[in-house]
Amino acid sequence: MQGGNLEAVGLRFEVDGEIATITLDRPDKRNAQTFALWSALAGIGETLPEQVRVVVVKGEGPSFSAGIDLSMFGQMTGATDLERRIEEFQQAFLWLRRPEIVSIAAVQGHAIGAGFQLALSCDLRIVADDVKFCMKEPALGLVPDLTGTKPLVELVGLAKAVDICLTARTVGAEEAYRIGLAERVVARDELDQAVQDKAAELLSVDRDAAAATKRLLQGARGRTLEDQCAAERAEQIERLRSLARLAEVRR
Ligand code: ACO
Repeated sequence: MQGGNLEAVGLRFEVDGEIATITLDRPDKRNAQTFALWSALAGIGETLPEQVRVVVVKGEGPSFSAGIDLSMFGQMTGATDLERRIEEFQQAFLWLRRPEIVSIAAVQGHAIGAGFQLALSCDLRIVADDVKFCMKEPALGLVPDLTGTKPLVELVGLAKAVDICLTARTVGAEEAYRIGLAERVVARDELDQAVQDKAAELLSVDRDAAAATKRLLQGARGRTLEDQCAAERAEQIERLRSLARLAEVRR
């Protein structure tokens, strides 16, 4: 999708070397998310330039995102083929876990519903001290279905995830940091710099080793210790062969 079309759905997309930045850019509507925005996000994932290693997701204005644009609900209740449509929406969120990239959500103000789930889709969350996470879906008679339930449980555990979702309460910065939802809390005016610093740190390690290590870490929970050890060996053998090939070329 071209820049002009992205602007029309309230998105900005910039690539600077190995860092891509996606900005939700509808601050007057608190970056509420439409179906068109999800389609554009999925498109960014499909066409992400190969050199990109870090993807930053941020929101313009006082809130990261107030969740789904409430005007979308009317369009969904009467829709047919809901299974396929929801699966399409989920594509906007899924690609942010790819092993070849590390995604960082820079979250300030409200991150509600789909906004919370977008932040959960990223590998890391750096938040401002005014952050307010809220999984509002159950309060609206819905479930969170934009890929956020798995990372939430994996980050904070089942009991806290039940507490957060089934009360639809707000989680502030101190709690978010304490329970592992946020890697770092900074003052609002330090958020951009903190994210840039983290991106620079992430770019300081070898690209292929980073992707292989992320694959290992992502797979760890679903494997037995024995299988994980086997996966470590397989990735390491590939790394060692690749390093040997490089040394050969340099000789
Ligand atoms: N969808 C559509 N428009 C929205 C949304 C939304 N989710 N959230 C805010 N807006 C609009 C408001 O209607 C308002 O528009 P207007 O100026 O044309 O009247 C504008 O954004 C600013 O909103 P305010 O409420 O004035 O902003 P404030 O900063 O005081 O509050 C807050 C922000 C707390 C996010 C509030 O707007 C809110 O509660 N929004 C709804 C949140 C919600 O229920 N989201 C759905 C969750 S479920 C899901 O995402 C699947």
